[in-house]
Amino acid sequence: MPTDPYWNHNTHYHPWILDQVPAHARTALDIGCGDGLLARKLATRCDAVLGVDLDGQAVAAAPTAPNVHYEKADFRDVDDTFDVVTAVATLHHVPLAEGMAALRALVAPGGVLAVVGLWKMHPLTDIGYLPLLPVIWATDRRHRAVAGGPEVAIRDPEDTLADIREAAATHLPGAQLRRRLLWRYTLLWQNTGHCA
Ligand SMILES: C[S@@+](CC[C@H](N)C(=O)[O-])C[C@H]1O[C@@H](n2cnc3c(N)ncnc32)[C@H](O)[C@@H]1O
Repeated sequence: MPTDPYWNHNTHYHPWILDQVPAHARTALDIGCGDGLLARKLATRCDAVLGVDLDGQAVAAAPTAPNVHYEKADFRDVDDTFDVVTAVATLHHVPLAEGMAALRALVAPGGVLAVVGLWKMHPLTDIGYLPLLPVIWATDRRHRAVAGGPEVAIRDPEDTLADIREAAATHLPGAQLRRRLLWRYTLLWQNTGHCA
């Protein structure tokens, strides 16, 4: 397993993603792969990993690793299926319903989709974070020395968690969505092969 060169609110959830990789998984796709850190971690579990990102410079600079291939591409144009599909801080870069439908189409039967995402927060609906702030600050402080990340495009999320839950119910039925400590949600969906 590569040693993380940095820590942030996205890499914090990489262990959760790796825990979702089914034992039978051979192929994986990381969309919005940035510098490829997660793709390289997935390659410790899968025989063939593809990382795609719209940012050609990021994928050109991504460190090479056995069984990892990077491509400059829009994930909505990828025409294949994978045993594992991952999306970290990327789904909110495209229209929600379109992005979820595209992700769903990329998951092979029996495969899983694991998303770490951002939503548009609101003080009323997200008031539950208030008592958690000391824990969040302590977590950030504990990782202060290694805080960082790749230089990639960021975007403010436009969808609320309610929007995301509603879209998931339509496009990813049965998905498990959980609000997490570090301003992220996780979504897990399995392609059981049943129609929505
Ligand atoms: C906030 S960054 C996250 C990068 C990486 N997943 C991480 O956790 O560090 C979002 C990435 O998604 C990429 N991106 C945005 N829209 C995309 C699309 N339609 N297809 C592929 N990549 C996309 C951006 O170029 C950017 O690198």
